[in-house]
Amino acid sequence: MAKIDFDKYEEFYAKRSGEMRSSVMRDLMAVVARPEVISLAGGMPNTESFSRKILAKIMHDISMHDSAAALQYGPTEGFDETKENITKVMAAEGTHVDIGNLIVTTGAQQGIDLSARLLIDPGDTIIAEAPTYPGAIPSFTNFQANVCQVPLDADGLRVDLARKEVEKLAKNGAKPKFIYVIPNFHNPGGVSLSLHRRHELVALAKEHRLIILEDNPYGQLRFEGEPLPTLYSLDDDDNVIYLSTFSKILSPGIRLGWVAAPAPLLAKFNLGKQAADLCPSTLAQMLVNRYFKEARWQDYVSRVIDIYRARRDVMLAALKEYFPEEASWTLPQGGFFIWATLPEYINSADLLALALEEELVAFVPGSGAWADGKSGANHMRLAFCGVPEDKIEEGIKRLGKVIKEQMGLYEALRGGKES
Ligand SMILES: Cc1ncc(COP(=O)(O)O)c(C=O)c1O
Repeated sequence: MAKIDFDKYEEFYAKRSGEMRSSVMRDLMAVVARPEVISLAGGMPNTESFSRKILAKIMHDISMHDSAAALQYGPTEGFDETKENITKVMAAEGTHVDIGNLIVTTGAQQGIDLSARLLIDPGDTIIAEAPTYPGAIPSFTNFQANVCQVPLDADGLRVDLARKEVEKLAKNGAKPKFIYVIPNFHNPGGVSLSLHRRHELVALAKEHRLIILEDNPYGQLRFEGEPLPTLYSLDDDDNVIYLSTFSKILSPGIRLGWVAAPAPLLAKFNLGKQAADLCPSTLAQMLVNRYFKEARWQDYVSRVIDIYRARRDVMLAALKEYFPEEASWTLPQGGFFIWATLPEYINSADLLALALEEELVAFVPGSGAWADGKSGANHMRLAFCGVPEDKIEEGIKRLGKVIKEQMGLYEALRGGKES
């Protein structure tokens, strides 16, 4: 985005527009698109691996046989055929959903935005993980939510601490509008919510009558270990709004995701979507539906899983070799991200500036995953999904060098002060 020094339209903006923020990932897009930069920043699916032949055939068939419908508006909630295919995707994760409980959205991102639109009044509290998905923060702050972030550990959200926050609010006669969680292969944390905690979270929602906003874009991308049930499938009290997407199993460029929710909520999502964009892309839905008919979507998911697993392994090995021993990182069993923790005194936003300038390597600084834009500064998100293995190793090597230089500098300054 262009930098604006003076804005003559200031007097026209709605008050809430003052709360609008750019997400750190979006800010980085332009910088990391430079071909000389090794970007471990963006969570870019490996779209190279999608068969050009299949795409060409599908596009050709749609143009030749269905062009009038493909170029037309469609129903706000999406085509039944798209929803049938979504039920297949959810079934592959052991989750049953009726097509009557689904709405097709413009990516899972629209599901987050519509949830915020429907549920948040200015000043309402919502609970999210610390760290949380950087792209969700603007959706919540745009509607002036008070984002209360509860820490994660290796087993995902600390549900015991979330419970404490809920109980604290209850003492003042309040409750969070929802609890936003990414239970599988967290972005940016790389961890998954344990089975035990899934049960605890669903029970907490039932006990206090809370809504859980379950965001699950990565659940299909499991490299190893046992699949875990979705919160949506564990819930027997209609407290879960479930979001997912075709972005990670097929293509983010087609911009198709979905929301599964109880009927009354879904009716509101429909109204919100009518106002936002009338309907999901007809052409993109036809592409997905033909693809599901003609190809085996799960074979493609298996193929990309193999690619991502190999890339994760290279990144883990490189971290061990090149990062200082004071650093630690998560061990994701799937998804796109590793979350690294550096000594407290390292500010990863400053480190990013140096890493870009001196070593042409990028990552997402940790503070982007906190609503205050400040906490978590000694963390970094490293994406292994979109970069070939040799570049991952080189990128981590270069990053390790910058980190060690910064640590050396800190030690020298500290030693200097003490003497
Ligand atoms: C946790 C999470 N939610 C939502 C999204 C948005 O996905 P979509 O491309 O479906 O809008 C992403 C994308 O990276 C994500 O990581």
